[in-house]
Amino acid sequence: MKVLGISGSPRKDHSTDRLVKEVLNAIGGETEFVSLAGKRIGPCIACLGCINDNTCKVSDEMQGLRQKIVEADAYVIGAANYYSMLNGLSHCFLERFYQFRHQEGKALAGKLGVAVGVGGSSGDKSVENIKTFFDYNEIECVGTVSGQGAASCFSCGYCETCKVGAVHMFFEPGTMVTPEIIPNLDKQPEALMQARSLGKMLGERLRGIADAKWEVTG
Ligand SMILES: Cc1cc2nc3c(=O)[nH]c(=O)nc-3n(C[C@H](O)[C@H](O)[C@H](O)COP(=O)(O)O)c2cc1C
Repeated sequence: MKVLGISGSPRKDHSTDRLVKEVLNAIGGETEFVSLAGKRIGPCIACLGCINDNTCKVSDEMQGLRQKIVEADAYVIGAANYYSMLNGLSHCFLERFYQFRHQEGKALAGKLGVAVGVGGSSGDKSVENIKTFFDYNEIECVGTVSGQGAASCFSCGYCETCKVGAVHMFFEPGTMVTPEIIPNLDKQPEALMQARSLGKMLGERLRGIADAKWEVTG
């Protein structure tokens, strides 16, 4: 049993990475974490190069991930909320799952998935979008977790005066940026607990599937 965790946030070691890792660490089996930050992964270009063999021909860093995706029994996929939808890098990554669908290709069908979303206010939109991608690929979504991360505004240097920034959006004008007001997953025990209980549940589901296969074949 192997679980592939993917964080599609372009910010390494920020909240999306953390929440995906919280799920992975509770699984109790083999896991691998991959951050898409800095990776060159473009969108599906609808070239149909994958039609006959379910293998994408676009030459970029998605090629190095294909085997990991095929081999994994389950996925924990996290995305940041950009403009009330999953961020572009995560979208590009998931669009490229198109390569697995042709001629009733079932490379991913029946696998399990957990959707993780993080937003400056909420990660719910990212979670919804990831679930849609799961549905198209017949990946069973066993649960979701959403958290609040620190919007880049908090560290841009103009946040206290900018009329469209996070301070003005979430607090009274004139609020100073201090560590107390910056969102952080450590201040969200429910999100962390949800992530860990999902990891535990995913691990149990996968072990149940492995045991059932063993009974049939062994
Ligand atoms: C271009 C951009 C657009 C964003 N739009 C939203 C948004 O619509 N809603 C929201 O809740 N957060 C929004 N955010 C804030 C991020 O979701 C937030 O910083 C989150 O912590 C990102 O995840 P990370 O910490 O893993 O990078 C946006 C951030 C960027 C850079």
